[in-house]
Amino acid sequence: MTLTINADRLRVDFDALAAFGAVAADAPTELGQAEARGVNRPSLSPAHLDARRWFQARAAAAGLETRVDAAANHSAVLRSPRPARPARTLLLGSHLDSVPNGGRFDGALGVLAALEALRTVQEAGLALPVHLEAIDFTDEEGTLVGELGSQALAGTLAPEALLRPRGGRAALVAGLARAGLHESRLFEARRDPATLAGYLELHIEQGPRLAHSAIAIGVVTAIVGITSYRVTFSGAANHAGTTPMDARQDAGLGAAAFTLTARELVVRDFAGCAVNVGQMRFEPGAFNIIPGRAELALEFRAPDALRLAEVEDALLSLAGVVARQHGLELELEPLGGCAPAPMDPAAQAAIAAAADSLALTHMPLVSGAGHDGQSLAPLIPCGMVFVPSRGGLSHSPLEYTAWDDCVNGANVLLRAALTLSVATAT
Ligand code: HGY
Ligand code: MN
Ligand code: MN
Repeated sequence: MTLTINADRLRVDFDALAAFGAVAADAPTELGQAEARGVNRPSLSPAHLDARRWFQARAAAAGLETRVDAAANHSAVLRSPRPARPARTLLLGSHLDSVPNGGRFDGALGVLAALEALRTVQEAGLALPVHLEAIDFTDEEGTLVGELGSQALAGTLAPEALLRPRGGRAALVAGLARAGLHESRLFEARRDPATLAGYLELHIEQGPRLAHSAIAIGVVTAIVGITSYRVTFSGAANHAGTTPMDARQDAGLGAAAFTLTARELVVRDFAGCAVNVGQMRFEPGAFNIIPGRAELALEFRAPDALRLAEVEDALLSLAGVVARQHGLELELEPLGGCAPAPMDPAAQAAIAAAADSLALTHMPLVSGAGHDGQSLAPLIPCGMVFVPSRGGLSHSPLEYTAWDDCVNGANVLLRAALTLSVATAT
C-alpha cells in the first residue's frame, strides 16, 4: 500500500476551481493577500454551475464516465473491470457549493481529492472489487435547503423541506430553474443502498482542534445534528422619538434580548452544543421607527439527537419568555435540519490505518460542522478525513489549509478508499 496521489495535478485543479466565484478579502498580515481569497458559489448560482461544468470536463478529460442525477449531484465514475458480485460503488466526495463569501477549501478540497483518487487508481491499473465514484453533492451548505443532494440520494429528502426551505422558496425555485431541474423529479435521485459500498469524504476541520494539537489528520467519529428555525417577534412600529421609552413594543429589542440570552443559555447548560443567529432583519427598518417586526435566522447544533431535542425545547421556551417580557407576539417556523450521525467504525479504522501508513499523526474528533455523510450514514458505512484549518477559520475568505495538509488528506482518502473497497467486498 504505497500508492499516492499526483499532488501537482491536484494543485492545478485546486487553483483552477478557486477561480469560479473568486472573492478577495482584506487579509491580516499573517496570511498575506495572496492567501486571503475565498469563493462566493451559493448552490445553483451561476458560479456554482460553472464550477460543476468544469468538474465534469476535468473528469471527462481523464477518460472517466460522468453522470448527473435528478438532484443534480455531479459524479465522475471509474468502473472496475472485475467488480465483486453484486457490483457496488464506493462514493468519495463532498460539495462544490459554498456559503456566501466563503472559503475556497470547504467542500472543494474533498471533491477534487476524490477525483484525484479515481485518476490515481485508473493510472495504476488497479482492478478493485468495487466501482469508484467521485461525487459533488447539491446544496450541501443550505443556502437553499441544506444537504439537498445527499438527502435526495439517500431517499430521505422530505417534500415539505422544499415548501419551507431555509434559503427561502423563491431562491429554491430560481436555483432549480437556473439548473434546469424539476422539483418533482429530485426524489428520483434515490440510490438503492445495496448498490453502494460506502462513502468517504475529505474535508477541512473548520475548527481549531487539529491545528491546536499539531495533529495532521482528524478521524471523524460523528457529525453534529443541526436544526433551523425562522423566529419572528412582532410588536408595534412607532415613532422613535416621541414614544416613551417605557411604552414601546420594540421587536428589535426582543430579538436582541433573545439572541443574547440564547447564547448564555447554551454556553451555561449545553456544553458541546452551539447556537447561532445568522441573520436579523427589522421592519420597517428606518432610523426613526421602532421596529415593529424582527425576523431571525436561528440555527442550533448538538452531537446527539437527545441533546438536540433538549436544546430545541430550551431555546423555543426562551423565545416565549422573551416575547412575553417585551409584550411581543412570537412566530416559530421550523425550517428542517439534519440528524446527527455516528461514523462507521470500519471506515474510521481504515482512515487511521491510512494515516499510519503515511506516518501521519491522527486523532478522533466529532465534527461541529454538518456534512453530507450524515445524510448517508443511516444507510451505508460512512467516514470522514479532516485536515487542519489555520486558526480554525472557515466560512470566510480567510479560510486556509496548508497545501501539505491538503495532500496528506488526499493520500489518506485514497488509501482508506482502497482498504474499504476490499473490506466491503468480502
Ligand atoms: O454549516 C455547516 O456546518 C457546513 O459547513 N455545511
Ligand atoms: Mn463543507
Ligand atoms: Mn461549509
